[in-house]
Formats: sequence, structure tokens, C-alpha cells
Amino acid sequence: MQFFLDTGDIDEITKASQWGLIDGVTTNPSLIAKTGRSQKDVITDICKIIDGPISAEVISTDKEGMIKEGAVLAEMHPNVVIKLPLTEAGISACKWFSTNDIKTNVTLCFSANQALLAAKNGATYISPFIGRLDDIGQDGMQLIHEIRAVYDNYGYPTEILAASIRHTMHVHQSALAGADVATMPYSVIKAMFNHPLTTSGLEKFLADHQKANK
Ligand code: G3P
Repeated sequence: MQFFLDTGDIDEITKASQWGLIDGVTTNPSLIAKTGRSQKDVITDICKIIDGPISAEVISTDKEGMIKEGAVLAEMHPNVVIKLPLTEAGISACKWFSTNDIKTNVTLCFSANQALLAAKNGATYISPFIGRLDDIGQDGMQLIHEIRAVYDNYGYPTEILAASIRHTMHVHQSALAGADVATMPYSVIKAMFNHPLTTSGLEKFLADHQKANK
């Protein structure tokens, strides 16, 4: 499973990069807004830290605008992936990008049918938003299972990028459901290291070592 960080925070990306676990980064307009910097500056900095797919989202809502904006973003660095919303315009623009060998991440996916549209137009990644479905009382994880089944039925190469991950159980369950990628906040990947038995077990090993080496 690939791990992406879902953030525009350069400090977090720098810290997480030390683990050697981070395969890529996803951003969105809200995450970029939190940084108080321009999308161009943030994406440029991320590309210097992580050598992997970096998703940058368009804000245009029409196909031509998305193509124009995405083409500029794609010129920034070969690792930039164009993030497009799952709308008629976004899916149409996805076809243009895949025909022109530019990677895409189709975002704001909330149904298996939407994921099917993205795969048909050659999306590199589909981003089902698990947490936001859970928020409205629907089963976000069920969507990952459904998309996995649909893509496997037809051999679509589009990678399932589990997004809107809020806690470690989401990562665990996405891995069991066969998601190709989990994109998560820094706090979630950091929490994955923790287990109380690891902490207490290590304390005991170190105490025993000290006793034996007095
Ligand atoms: O980047 C897309 C997604 O991961 C956003 O998550 O927590 O805002 O629903 P969230």
C-alpha cells in the first residue's frame, strides 16, 4: 500500500519524510488556504522534499479552464498530478489529460458509479472520501469495497486512493479493502506507530538490560 500525506504543511512533510514511508502528497484548495501561501509556492516546496506523485487541484469549474490550469500545474514538475473534481467538466477534462499522458486524481468521489466514470476516462487515481461519507451516516468503507470490486471486474488500472481519512482504523480497513493508496493527515500516520504493548515492552527490555549491566 502506498502512503500519501494529505497536507500542504511543509514542516509536517519534512518531518514525515524522515520515516522513509511517504510515497506522495495530496493537497486541496482548503489545505493550501491553511498555509497562507500560494499553491505554486507550496507545490514547488513539496516537490523538493518528496519524490513521488504530488496532487495539485484545479479551481476552474469549466473543462477549458481546468485544462488550461492543469497544463500549467503539470509544467511545474514531472511529479505533479492534476486533481480534478468529479463533475461533468472534471471527467471530460480527465479524458484530455489522460490522452495527453498527464496524470490525474479525480476527487470528491462518493459513489461507485462516479468512480466508474473516472476509470473510463483514464484517471490515474480516484479519491473516494471515506470520512465525509461517515460524517453523514453512510458507510465510507463500503465504497472502497465497491470500487475495488468494480475496477477488478473490468481490469481498470485506476488506483484507488482512500481519502478523507480521519483515524488509524480507516487506514487499517482501507488496506483490508484493497485500496492502492491511503492519503492521510500527519497525525494519523504518526498514530499508526503506537501500541501500548510496544511502549511497555520496550520499557521492560531497557530496564532489564540496565539491571543486568549494573
Ligand atoms: O484531500 C482530500 C481529503 O482527504 C479531504 O479530507 O478530512 O477534509 O474530509 P477531509
